[in-house]
Amino acid sequence: MANIAFVNGKWSPLSAATVSIEDRGFQFGDGVYEVIRTYDKNPFRIEAHLARLKISADAVGINIPYSFSEMGKIIRSGCRKAEFSVTQVYIQITRGMAPRNHRFPKRVKPTVVITFRKCKTPSNKMRREGVSIVTVTDTRWSRCCVKSLNLLPNVLAREHALQSDATEAIFVRDGKVMEGAGSNLFAVFGQSVITPPDGPYILSGITKSMVIQLIKQEGLRMQEKRLTLLRLTTADEVFLSGTTIEVLPVTRLNNKPVGTGQPGKTTQTLYKAFQEEVLRTSQTV
Ligand code: PDD
Repeated sequence: MANIAFVNGKWSPLSAATVSIEDRGFQFGDGVYEVIRTYDKNPFRIEAHLARLKISADAVGINIPYSFSEMGKIIRSGCRKAEFSVTQVYIQITRGMAPRNHRFPKRVKPTVVITFRKCKTPSNKMRREGVSIVTVTDTRWSRCCVKSLNLLPNVLAREHALQSDATEAIFVRDGKVMEGAGSNLFAVFGQSVITPPDGPYILSGITKSMVIQLIKQEGLRMQEKRLTLLRLTTADEVFLSGTTIEVLPVTRLNNKPVGTGQPGKTTQTLYKAFQEEVLRTSQTV
């Protein structure tokens, strides 16, 4: 088992992989990314992740130099080579390497970096006890639906959360809850589940869309609608969704208990339904 990287067609150990300091990803954050994880070596929802990568790349005018099927082959082969049972696949595509100048360079070749490493997943304690979240003012740009490399506000928000003994920071814009620094948010009120609708300030989470389907299948009322921070503080349950965290219970919000202060029944039901869906749908490499 080893951390490995694919950089513009070349495979190497992760520690030996390099890109130029003139890469626009390094100079400007001029690029887009995706994070995929495997279940038992199979990259999960790879088609959805590659489709979203294309949407992000198109939004900033970067041409991905590989087809969907070529990307799929590279990713599957990397997962096999890395040999972890749970691999985190990080894909980063930048506009390429050129002397620093804001203007798009002519005839530049995009840089494609794909790394494969052991995926960190939430601990049993986090699953059993739930995690704490804190809210922060949303200072991000108005195209958060594009998975761009420009994550400074997310980095600062997550650091603030960790410094506050919380696991995740939740962005709040004009009193409305948006999403986490690296996750989407759901709130349970009785038999109803609310998540803020996709839009310019929210990433269309792949896990989010899967959880929305599961909520409907469980016969609960699913509402994609705006949620104020005030309303969130009255939720019976809160949970986060994301590729590596799956469905993760939140038991403290801004240092106060959420509902009973324990992971709720609905969250647990959805976590179980999520695992069943993974077993049912993850394909063999
Ligand atoms: N984060 N919102 C934001 C801002 C995110 O960065 C992420 C994912 C999500 C959840 O999306 P998905 O379910 O498709 O993983 C929502 C990844 C994992 C990251 O940046 O590491």
